[in-house]
Amino acid sequence: MRRTEQAYTNSQHQNIMVGNMGASLYEPINVYKPVAPNIGIVDGPFEHLTIGGAKLPLPFTTRMTVVRLSNGDLFLHSPIKFDGRLANELLGLGVVRHLVSPNQFHYAHIGEWANAFPNAVSWASPRVRERARARHVDVDFTRDLAASPPEWRREIDQTLFPGGYFKEFIFFHKASRTLILADTIINIELDKVTEPWRTATKFSGMYHPYGQIFFGMRLPLLLQRQKAEAAIRKIHSWQPQRILLSHGRCFDADANKVIRRIFGEPPR
Ligand SMILES: [Fe+2]
Repeated sequence: MRRTEQAYTNSQHQNIMVGNMGASLYEPINVYKPVAPNIGIVDGPFEHLTIGGAKLPLPFTTRMTVVRLSNGDLFLHSPIKFDGRLANELLGLGVVRHLVSPNQFHYAHIGEWANAFPNAVSWASPRVRERARARHVDVDFTRDLAASPPEWRREIDQTLFPGGYFKEFIFFHKASRTLILADTIINIELDKVTEPWRTATKFSGMYHPYGQIFFGMRLPLLLQRQKAEAAIRKIHSWQPQRILLSHGRCFDADANKVIRRIFGEPPR
């Protein structure tokens, strides 16, 4: 990853209006944007919520994180929609090896990447196989994520963040001290979404700069206090310097303050 000197920051995000929807992407999309040595993000195209197979007119942005391991393997967290040009760009960075579904909601494009990279390992999150089967999404998971990190353990740590139905494996890239999350924290920029999404996001409190724990996780967190405290203790012990998110604006600075605001002081 030779372009790390061009570290990507949120201030470089350009709002591109899409048609008359008023929603905007984190342009440029489908391009690797380094954030530190051996780690970067790729912003994707719009995704849409579906209910019972019906696509709702509520576009939202999503983002994947790419870590280059010291053996040259690439770890793709929450892969976005497959794009041939992007795949070629990643080939220049390393070997696409790990396709990681951190929770049962972030998996839909893993099958597309696995088709393009048959030697890649598709990592399943809890319940994701059942969800993919129920939705007739073609993806063949090869291995399951577990509490202790597998072959990337020297470079990336992980823990299961409890949240009932919404539980998520969260990751920490040690060298760059980057916390890598999908839905655990949501930090939507209100001027990038349209109504009624904007009002709903405002009510939820999950908007920039006040990003919060995804609301669906909050009650399960209270009910699973011991597990929650263990996960929060681990997050504090990592001392992240930066937080990458799948939805909304990432936290490039003052991660320590953000962690304390959102998760509280380290539990005893
Ligand atoms: Fe999500």
